[in-house]
Amino acid sequence: MDQITTRWADSADAENIARLVNSAFRLERFFVDADRTNPEKVRALLDKGKFLLAEEAGVLIACVYVELRGERGYFGLLAVDPAKQRAGMGSRLIDAAEQYCRASGCHFMDLTTVNLRKELPGYYRRRGYAENGTLPFPADQYPPKMPCHLVKMSKPLS
Ligand SMILES: CC(C)(COP(=O)(O)OP(=O)(O)OC[C@H]1O[C@@H](n2cnc3c(N)ncnc32)[C@H](O)[C@@H]1OP(=O)(O)O)[C@@H](O)C(=O)NCCC(=O)NCCS
Repeated sequence: MDQITTRWADSADAENIARLVNSAFRLERFFVDADRTNPEKVRALLDKGKFLLAEEAGVLIACVYVELRGERGYFGLLAVDPAKQRAGMGSRLIDAAEQYCRASGCHFMDLTTVNLRKELPGYYRRRGYAENGTLPFPADQYPPKMPCHLVKMSKPLS
């Protein structure tokens, strides 16, 4: 992949971020019958944290939400355009999110996955993360159509 640049999003990017996230997370329709997000929710997240964007020739192909929480960082909504997956973009954005949090004084990075996404813990374990607990499925998200919960994973940022 050539000509890939990264930058921090501003509120004008909310529509494109929501479109990309919903496209990447469409595979979760087997347990949630709804879009993952919308521009209003993205703008609300931009008040609390940042979205790092990856663009190829000016077109948004991947994003990740990053939030500083004291000595811990958090990332979520990692999304790669389905046509651009398995080419290292996810790893590249995770690295960049970790660098940002480390440079901001964080000692750990946290994320969550839904327990029904069986392939994800392995993906994150290969990038240094380990499971360290569970959480209920968030009440502010569209209700899932089968029982599920979140799996917490963390990694020290040295
Ligand atoms: C999960 C997700 C972010 C991963 O992004 P990605 O860009 O496809 O991931 P990567 O390319 O970094 O890694 C994917 C795998 O492809 C492999 N791969 C295959 N060809 C590759 C290549 N040419 N270059 C790099 N990696 C390649 C990698 O080795 C990696 O496997 P590994 O985990 O065994 O190392 C992406 O699939 C996605 O957007 N999914 C939908 C949304 C989602 O589930 N987000 C996460 C919610 S917690």
